[in-house]
Amino acid sequence: MNELSSSASTPTIQCEQLSHSFPMAGERFQVLKGIDLTVMPGEMVAIIGPSGSGKSTLMNLIGCLMTPEQGELKILGKSTSGLTKAQLADVRRDHIGFVFQQFNLLARTSALDNVKMPLMYHDEPIKDADERARACLESVGLGDRLHNHPSQLSGGQQQRVAIARALINRPDILLADEPTGALDTHTSGEIMALFRKLNNAGHTVVLVTHEMEVAEQADRIVMVRDGCLLQDSSQHLEGAK
Ligand SMILES: Nc1ncnc2c1ncn2[C@@H]1O[C@H](COP(=O)(O)OP(=O)(O)O)[C@@H](O)[C@H]1O
Ligand SMILES: [Mg+2]
Repeated sequence: MNELSSSASTPTIQCEQLSHSFPMAGERFQVLKGIDLTVMPGEMVAIIGPSGSGKSTLMNLIGCLMTPEQGELKILGKSTSGLTKAQLADVRRDHIGFVFQQFNLLARTSALDNVKMPLMYHDEPIKDADERARACLESVGLGDRLHNHPSQLSGGQQQRVAIARALINRPDILLADEPTGALDTHTSGEIMALFRKLNNAGHTVVLVTHEMEVAEQADRIVMVRDGCLLQDSSQHLEGAK
């Protein structure tokens, strides 16, 4: 976490009227329709909504993996509008750790080397890469699995490796798109407890799920439906259960 994350009153994430469409059958399919969302430092927010509602698109925009057609995204108070691909990659490297449903680990590659991967995108070689990767794996409870390949690990352990990889650049923001979607209920609970622990350690966490039991582990629940943000408070959703 670096100098940009200085002010506690500066939103960590600010989406202003984010809109996006994809080409479909010769027309445009409007997947996001003017999303306003502000996430403050230290928040843990769950984005919930049915399949196809635009959750992953919103996460990919917040994660600077793609740019919105309309609207503005600010990360730590800084606009990302007009940034080049290389500049967006720098924002990702310096501020954002991304966790995916399918773990996206390199096969035939040790946990340690998987976690070290994002360090390759620095201009200068990172001297203490091994120690950093080991510390990240220890922080997710895998200090005794450094040299195992993904195929030698359970689904929950693989997701822990992916979380360690997301932590390696000490991000301000952890984004997770359906991080428990490929896991059984018990393991999901363990992974959510890990996100809670990381949130308590200072990471702002935004995760996507379509399961209310998972979303309820967050402090705040945001619902996306048909590309719109419907409600923005866990209290408002009480009646929807
Ligand atoms: N790259 C793409 N090209 C075309 N359509 C897409 C693309 N990504 C997503 N979509 C469409 O946008 C809609 C929302 O997708 P997505 O954001 O993945 O929703 P969710 O994560 O809530 O299931 C879906 O109808 C999907 O088919
Ligand atoms: Mg999705």
